Amino acid sequence: MASLEHEEVIVRAGPRSGLAVIVAIHSTHLGQAVGGCRIWRYADWRDGLEDALRLSAGMTRKLAVCGLANGGGKTVVAVPNGATLGEARRADALRDVGEVIASLSGRYATGPDVGTAPADMAIISERTEHVFCQPPELGGSGDSSPHTASGVVAALRAACSRTYGSVDLSRRLFAVSGLGSVGGHVARQLAAAGASLLVSDIDIEKKNLAKELGASWADPDEILTAEADVLIPAALGGVLTRDIVPGLRCTAIVGPANNQLAEPRVAELLHERGIIWVPDYVASAGGVIYALSVELRHETQANAVARVQAIEETVIQILDVSQQTGRAPAYAAQELVRHRLGTPSPHRLAHR
Ligand code: PHE
Repeated sequence: MASLEHEEVIVRAGPRSGLAVIVAIHSTHLGQAVGGCRIWRYADWRDGLEDALRLSAGMTRKLAVCGLANGGGKTVVAVPNGATLGEARRADALRDVGEVIASLSGRYATGPDVGTAPADMAIISERTEHVFCQPPELGGSGDSSPHTASGVVAALRAACSRTYGSVDLSRRLFAVSGLGSVGGHVARQLAAAGASLLVSDIDIEKKNLAKELGASWADPDEILTAEADVLIPAALGGVLTRDIVPGLRCTAIVGPANNQLAEPRVAELLHERGIIWVPDYVASAGGVIYALSVELRHETQANAVARVQAIEETVIQILDVSQQTGRAPAYAAQELVRHRLGTPSPHRLAHR
């Protein structure tokens, strides 16, 4: 039997929405657990549970690797495949989420994730104060996705300086898979830096953004194996499978999608193929770093932005260790996580 890694997992039929509301607290070892609220479609609520378990463990790694004194958690509201949520039922689901979080007395706080935005955080806040990224007019730090995107670009600079000996992104071709809230901002920032772009999304409406940015368009099932310098997975997780590795035609993979590896072993396979994979939990940390710096640590925006930019150094450090040890970057990152988790920060953040 695999042992339970998580501190606490709550699965509740939302009393208002009737939807499966799942809150997984992976760890509070370093401080309050933090992780976004995902509203997504699943074939079965158990798949949503599985997602919450994996995503919350990823949050523990994400927060630890960035040196934040917080642990990992995640909320998933599982919507049955094929169902569309009306506005009222969606708001009910968010109130159900708020109620569960309120019952945890500060051990866990949420924020936006796939399928939620700052306005949704405001609804959650009707029931609990433990929620980040409310709209600025309500005193929150607002949309975290531009900051997540800046963190990805910082990680890209590190990867490019290691693979090509130059941080100049304008000389590179990037393949962006997914133009959602984070992927869209990544593509915009890269276009602004003068980079060449190949983009794709399951929503063909996003072709308009591609046009606006002067980016080429690829089909979603072709983008992962397209020829490019760096592949940027910015859609859902699980895309890097054992089977796809031999077909990849990039030199590095750096993106914000959480849980990109279909199985941990894929990190080794990528390494053996000479493809640098920057762990998703490092590349995607910008949003949560920004929100926690501003809202929990009350730092200035400039300081928070500097912390997001520091992802570049974190990635350099990980790639250096990878080079010195000959092991995959995932291994080096995992060692950093282990080190941080083994030595809880003396500056533990008080629960709000
Ligand atoms: N969705 C964010 C992530 O996966 C979670 C988050 C963002 C939590 C901002 C709090 C604040 O990292």
